[in-house]
Amino acid sequence: MVKKNDVIEEKVVDFALPESSGVIKQGGLVIFVPGALPGEKCQVKIRKIKRNYALGELLSTDCSSPFRIEPFCPHFGEGCGGCSLQYIDYPFQREIKEKNAREVLSRVGQVDWEKVDYQGMLPSPRFLEYRNKMEFNFGQRGEELSLGLRPRGRFWDLIDLKTCFLMKKSLTEEVLDFFRFYGRKHHLSGYDPVSKKGFLRNLLVRYSETQDQLLLGLSTTSGELPHIEELTRQLKKQFTNLIGFSQIINNSPASALLFEQKKLWYGEDHFFEKIGSINYRVSLESFFQVNTAGCLTLYSQAKELACIQSDETVLDLYCGSGGVGLFLADQANRIIGVEDNQRAIEDARFNAWANGLDNFTVIQGRVEKMINDLSGLRADVVVVDPPRAGLDKKLVRRISRIGADRIVYLSCNVGTLARDISFFKEKGYHLTRLVFIDLFPQTPHFESVALLEEER
Ligand SMILES: C[S@@+](CC[C@H](N)C(=O)[O-])C[C@H]1O[C@@H](n2cnc3c(N)ncnc32)[C@H](O)[C@@H]1O
Repeated sequence: MVKKNDVIEEKVVDFALPESSGVIKQGGLVIFVPGALPGEKCQVKIRKIKRNYALGELLSTDCSSPFRIEPFCPHFGEGCGGCSLQYIDYPFQREIKEKNAREVLSRVGQVDWEKVDYQGMLPSPRFLEYRNKMEFNFGQRGEELSLGLRPRGRFWDLIDLKTCFLMKKSLTEEVLDFFRFYGRKHHLSGYDPVSKKGFLRNLLVRYSETQDQLLLGLSTTSGELPHIEELTRQLKKQFTNLIGFSQIINNSPASALLFEQKKLWYGEDHFFEKIGSINYRVSLESFFQVNTAGCLTLYSQAKELACIQSDETVLDLYCGSGGVGLFLADQANRIIGVEDNQRAIEDARFNAWANGLDNFTVIQGRVEKMINDLSGLRADVVVVDPPRAGLDKKLVRRISRIGADRIVYLSCNVGTLARDISFFKEKGYHLTRLVFIDLFPQTPHFESVALLEEER
């Protein structure tokens, strides 16, 4: 049996997600090795031994995988948590994700693939610079303020980024430089997630390429931003496409970017994105799919699977700013959205009005609660697009009680999707169509759209 600090030489037999690691097996023990690829012979140092698996450090590899490529980002070697799959060529990234997703759905969702019209993993139209939203962290490296992303698995640490390939690169570099310079010039401290001290916490960048609009949010603990007039003047001068700049006050000890208070220092607190023919207004704090070009594929797939008839009523649970629901609205008689984020609801109502889709209405509230009030509604189709936690057994039971013919499930977490598919099966809804869309190239994540139909 291997022990901590042992060095072993083995062939990689598989690739695991979301660990983004090659898999080695020795004496029944599974060893995850970041950076290793299937088929390669590797020298590995055992770093940790857990109850069911071990973690290894890749010391060397024969690099024999035909799918290994040179990482494009200089920060990859520092362990940046942004693009963990960038050393793998893009078609193979998709293959790995697809294989993993199918395994999860077979194991947890007991999916019978013979009975599913399965479309595979569709690619993102772009592999790099595809995001319309980035959330960077401030921190402290000794005396110096830093700004960037956390390394994989080290929430307390920070990589001071000079560049990033996830959003438009030239813009990202400029924005990072601007705020790093501003913070250092005024001797502002970066927030430390361990001591919970420091002033500057996050830089939220939202950029719509379709509209060329830049929206910025600077998250801080309580306090005044020094020389705010000069700051906004400089921002406007340097970023001519800036549509708005806000300060977000967040004193919470949680690591998430929370909007406890927002101070609008310039322009608007929203931007616009266009998906297909729909113009979406999206507030700084509202959810919106981060891959604009890929989102068109996602919504088009949802539309195809939903196959809504002109006399049908659709219930759009977790509707956000109207995202997928508004995209479907031209086909339906009526769409009723449910959402709990006040700003997203305002955006959704505005978006319905501005796009002339007056058959789309929104109810404010938590789905778990509102679903009871909607039990009298006769919906033909229920669209669900929950956060990563998915639904749960109780919610699946309540949604099933509505008696819709079809449920269209959009998911960013195949694990919870698989679990919920098995719950829906118990209630008589069977998976009939499925497609994955790789909305997050270079990362282990992707989206799924599943159609569940009631057995007659
Ligand atoms: C994955 S997003 C989906 C947004 C939208 N369907 C779209 O196409 O852009 C999930 C949304 O659910 C909302 N949400 C999260 N938990 C909720 C809950 N318990 N009840 C209602 N809405 C919730 C979030 O604010 C977010 O807008």
